[in-house]
Amino acid sequence: MAFTVRLLLFSSLFLLPVSVFAQTNGSIAVGDFLTATTANSSPWLSPSGDFAFGFSPLGSNDLFLLSIWYAKIPDRTIVWHANGDNEAAVAPKGSTVNLTANSGLVLRSPQGEELWKSGTSVGVIANGVMNDTGNFVLQDRNSESLWETFNNPTDTMLPGQTLERSGKLSSRQSETNYSKGRFQLLLQEDGNLVLSTINLPTNFANEPYYATDTTSGTVAGSEGKELVFNVSGYLYVLRENGGKYNLAVGEVVSARDNYIRATLNFDGIFAQYYLPKNFTGNVSWTILWSEPDNICQRITESSGVGVCGYNSICTLKGDKRPTCRCPTGFSLLDPNDHIGDANRISYKAVKKMSLVAQKIYMMLRC
Ligand SMILES: *[C@@H]1O[C@H](CO)[C@@H](O)[C@H](O)[C@H]1NC(C)=O
Ligand SMILES: *[C@@H]1O[C@H](CO)[C@@H](O)[C@H](O)[C@H]1NC(C)=O
Ligand SMILES: *[C@@H]1O[C@H](CO)[C@@H](O)[C@H](O)[C@H]1NC(C)=O
Ligand SMILES: *[C@@H]1O[C@H](CO)[C@@H](O)[C@H](O)[C@H]1NC(C)=O
Ligand SMILES: *[C@@H]1O[C@H](CO)[C@@H](O)[C@H](O)[C@H]1NC(C)=O
Ligand SMILES: *[C@@H]1O[C@H](CO)[C@@H](O)[C@H](O)[C@H]1NC(C)=O
Ligand SMILES: *[C@@H]1O[C@H](CO)[C@@H](O)[C@H](O)[C@H]1NC(C)=O
Repeated sequence: MAFTVRLLLFSSLFLLPVSVFAQTNGSIAVGDFLTATTANSSPWLSPSGDFAFGFSPLGSNDLFLLSIWYAKIPDRTIVWHANGDNEAAVAPKGSTVNLTANSGLVLRSPQGEELWKSGTSVGVIANGVMNDTGNFVLQDRNSESLWETFNNPTDTMLPGQTLERSGKLSSRQSETNYSKGRFQLLLQEDGNLVLSTINLPTNFANEPYYATDTTSGTVAGSEGKELVFNVSGYLYVLRENGGKYNLAVGEVVSARDNYIRATLNFDGIFAQYYLPKNFTGNVSWTILWSEPDNICQRITESSGVGVCGYNSICTLKGDKRPTCRCPTGFSLLDPNDHIGDANRISYKAVKKMSLVAQKIYMMLRC
């Protein structure tokens, strides 16, 4: 008898970690916390295990990014990250994120300095939920949402997510630097969905290089109300009158069989991607569609200096994403920065310079 009990105890102890992993309901209690370490850092998983919330290592500098990613894909693809106004909330090793009742998620450095918080203005948080849609939700005791990552997007939208008027996506600096970059997708107050370059740090938006033109035209109620990425994986501007402006026509993959996302890339391309859930071996994201068709031509003087910066030549790769090179005799200012630098000045400003200054600037640029 004693033997049986001990055996049972032993086996249930042995099984515990496995069953916790398999049966998580995605719920996170107030008081729960995560620590930024490379060793045994177990993130908060959604019930299906498709999405994880936690710390992602950034490069090899013992820095981490509080983020959400696809937990089953070997190559980490981040769909949301904690960010301040313009900077990503980068956390040194040993930082913690706590779920608190009154301040939501609070990220602190090992020294106790507050690096970021979700900040909820009203209500008391009962728990957090890492949802199977990829949405991390803070809710009150009645399961009303008080804060969610879907309402605070970074550069990516997921099926089930919508963007209201004045809602936007911001590109990152580069593939590996998550601070705010030079491109933005904005659903304007007039209902138009536009892509534009922005001037940092003022955030001034230049003339759009892509627009759906979903404004109040001749047909009543044709202005855009929200950008909808529905759970079937269709992305469209929903008009006030119920009409839809589809961003991609006739191209769709099954949302049941594929992971699907729409990302504003660091080079200004807004693209929808998919990856089969039943992948084997090496796997990478496939582009379903992207906008604009030719970003090298679309971004002209009026929409800010070209994608590549002054005096450098923009060409499209096979996947319509831009690459930059210098005319013969010049070399890139920063050889690692393949789409120019962030501190460029406008074409107009260059034109105002003296001829000598222009020449020097052009030599420096490339
Ligand atoms: C989720 O599981 C936790 C324990 O792991 C439990 O306290 C909580 O009530 C569960 N939530 C739901 C919605 O089932
Ligand atoms: C986070 O939780 C840990 C462990 O419970 C605790 O030591 C720490 O003080 C908490 N930090 C905050 C900001 O609540
Ligand atoms: C959570 O995910 C379910 C599907 O798994 C979805 O129906 C629901 O709308 C999501 N809730 C939120 C708040 O995102
Ligand atoms: C990312 O880029 C910004 C702006 O160029 C810079 O200030 C920051 O230090 C970079 N972050 C990292 C982790 O390299
Ligand atoms: C998503 O949108 C497409 C295109 O408008 C529509 O055919 C489909 O029924 C929608 N899916 C859901 C779940 O509403
Ligand atoms: C994945 O699923 C699709 C159908 O959804 C099927 O056609 C394909 O053969 C499957 N691939 C693998 C590697 O199992
Ligand atoms: C996966 O891709 C990487 C880089 O493209 C390559 O080095 C590696 O050999 C590939 N692995 C397999 C199993 O194909």
